[in-house]
Amino acid sequence: MRKIIIAANWKKYLNEEESVSLVYQLNDLLNLKNYNHQVMLFPDANHIPSILKVIENKYSLLAFGVQDPSFINKISDLLSDTFYEEISLSIVGHSDRRINHKENNDTTLKKLSELKKYSGLCPVLCVGETEAQKNDGFTLDVIKKQIPKNINSSKYSNECIIAYEPVWSIGTGKVPKNKEIETVLNSIKSLVDENVKLFYGGSVDLNNVEKLLEINLIDGFLIGGASTNFESLLGIIKKVDKFLKKN
Ligand code: 13P
Repeated sequence: MRKIIIAANWKKYLNEEESVSLVYQLNDLLNLKNYNHQVMLFPDANHIPSILKVIENKYSLLAFGVQDPSFINKISDLLSDTFYEEISLSIVGHSDRRINHKENNDTTLKKLSELKKYSGLCPVLCVGETEAQKNDGFTLDVIKKQIPKNINSSKYSNECIIAYEPVWSIGTGKVPKNKEIETVLNSIKSLVDENVKLFYGGSVDLNNVEKLLEINLIDGFLIGGASTNFESLLGIIKKVDKFLKKN
């Protein structure tokens, strides 16, 4: 049966108390129900120590990651070894890093290869074109350049995820047509190992998630704004489960 991963990138949207409370609610809920999805959370790295205390000694189905590899060193000082082991993922090359921190494909590549030092850490490599690049017809060229030639899951001791996030879609409410997303995901698929999982990200919410699920190539969603509120995130999770049970 198809499984879908729901990955919540909380960026800097929530304060510590809000992050902890959201994790608390989600953890209780996910432990009770047997859903056909997995939930990954990418909180503000500064909140991770308090968040992990919430699930300490509890069985948890939640997977945790950092929003960029640069945060790993920062939090490794704050966490005990056991807690440190709880971090299993890292976003790499998010458009926020590419645009606001002037990181290019080379920087991203370097970060990806540095991730290999942290055994078991699964990269979530973000790729996507800007509005101008889309309008000029360069979407596939841009994305091809953003994917390192040797990226495949066997390079990492765990899995590897590529998230297609069109820059013009992030936080704007604008979502590409399913056909457009399919074209990009097919192109990515042709470049990578078959074990690499493919996500879509960019204005995913309660109203469009079912339509997006019609794209069979999608293994998961990377969700910003709509993942920062319990009702909205729970609503998305429920819609994903309903869709998977029906199909
Ligand atoms: P939005 O869902 O708010 O558009 O953000 C997407 C994103 O950047 C996830 O990494």
